[in-house]
Amino acid sequence: MTTMRIDEVGQRLRSVGTYLMPPAELNRQLGVDATVWHRFGRHWDELAPDIYAAELGTRRLRRYGHFLFTPAEQSVRPVPHSAFVQPEKSNPLYVERDRHFEPLTEAFTKDPVLQAILSYLGQLATALDDVEEWSAKVTPFRVLASAGDAGQPTPEGVHRDGVTLVTSLLIARHNAVGGQSSVFDSSGRQLLATTLSEPGTMLLGDDRHTLHGVSPLRPDDPAEPARRDVLVVTFAPSAQSNRRRQR
Ligand SMILES: [Fe+2]
Repeated sequence: MTTMRIDEVGQRLRSVGTYLMPPAELNRQLGVDATVWHRFGRHWDELAPDIYAAELGTRRLRRYGHFLFTPAEQSVRPVPHSAFVQPEKSNPLYVERDRHFEPLTEAFTKDPVLQAILSYLGQLATALDDVEEWSAKVTPFRVLASAGDAGQPTPEGVHRDGVTLVTSLLIARHNAVGGQSSVFDSSGRQLLATTLSEPGTMLLGDDRHTLHGVSPLRPDDPAEPARRDVLVVTFAPSAQSNRRRQR
């Protein structure tokens, strides 16, 4: 298997809009082996209920972390915890409504696997756009479903996040059917449909030119709950970078 260089993945994202990276390729990029996802996935047992999704009848757990990535120094640093503000022209459910989520645990924030993911994706974002400083938002999600209660990974439906790069990394899936990810171009044409099933599979999208959504999740064995754990990471120019650009 060949591993694409960062500029090749960037080129693919710019031309096609989306790229599905298999686990073997991501593992190689991050310098980890396939067993890492089980260990990294323990952070998902520490997530907190998403009260905003619960208002819509979906059982979802999450936390939220914010980081800055500086391409010149290849540095990743955490930003003090604050409310999650949905950018304009993105998720219609939550624009202009700040949402308060529990921060990532300290162990999660400092996990070398998270640091490696942020550093790799920061370089990839830089292959998409020349930005001095990136704002990286990290959201681990766990969606649960039971026989009478489908789980909605994206309660807002097909949407964009209002960022440059959007990525979704599968951590674990248990007793689940459905949860199919789709990516569309701006005119609504489907570019890709896939069900992330193997831990370490990452779906990447150029959010400036695509939209995405995930279909409902249901249990395979109706006697047991279904579960889908993913890590969503987005990159957008930081507020400071945007101010410099406007000058
Ligand atoms: Fe999204």
